[in-house]
Amino acid sequence: MEVVIVPDAKAGGELIAEAMAALLRRKPDALLGVATGSTPLPIYEALTGKVQRGEVDASKARICQLDEYVGLPAGHPESYRATVLRQVVEPLGLTEASFMGPDGSASDIPAACEAYDRALAEAGGVDLQLLGIGTDGHIGFNEPCSSLASRTRIKTLTEQTLVDNARFFDGDIEQVPHHVITQGIGTIMEARHLVLLATGEGKADAVAATVEGPVAAIVPASALQLHRHATVVVDEAAASKLKLADYFRHTYANKPTWQGL
Ligand code: PGA
Repeated sequence: MEVVIVPDAKAGGELIAEAMAALLRRKPDALLGVATGSTPLPIYEALTGKVQRGEVDASKARICQLDEYVGLPAGHPESYRATVLRQVVEPLGLTEASFMGPDGSASDIPAACEAYDRALAEAGGVDLQLLGIGTDGHIGFNEPCSSLASRTRIKTLTEQTLVDNARFFDGDIEQVPHHVITQGIGTIMEARHLVLLATGEGKADAVAATVEGPVAAIVPASALQLHRHATVVVDEAAASKLKLADYFRHTYANKPTWQGL
């Protein structure tokens, strides 16, 4: 696992956007797996800037989604489909045709989950999957004790995640859906490159457990230790509980060899 410590969230966003731009230069129709939440916003801002300045052509890029709430009315502004269209697809100048996501309003949710895994495989697999991390160590919405081999499926959110996400629903925990569809950890692990961004002190425990703890279902993100090409980008605050922080600085800072891989 490559652990790149950056000064702040903006620098992390820049670094990851450049990796995505490099991928698009090599493979213009790359399938980019995106994440929602507050953390990836600096990535999308930086990538949009590169597209607008003509530094990269994203017109053939394909975008896919990690997870989705179950049961929100179609078009709800906090559905992840609407969020990704607003934050990623439209700013990059793409249309909905370039976008894939699980159908959280399907009448047959297990069938919708299977269909999404199949669609990802038929699209040739995800080239680069962005990930955030929950304060409880989740990736996507794979909450603690998710099977490390899980496929896309319905999950129930933990109380911690409901509390964390209430800010997107006027601070009202009652409005946060309790159920979600999420790519499974096994599904996520099939992406060719995993890039996790974590910023802020609130993520420091989860980052330390992910990077330096044992691989364990109680910390779903620790599965990244088993991936051939996983990159964890953290700001100083999120890195503050890493025992090997100095080693990571020495090894990876200013040497982002991973960008071109
Ligand atoms: P956040 O969410 O970026 O809003 O902190 C991360 C996550 O829950 O995966």
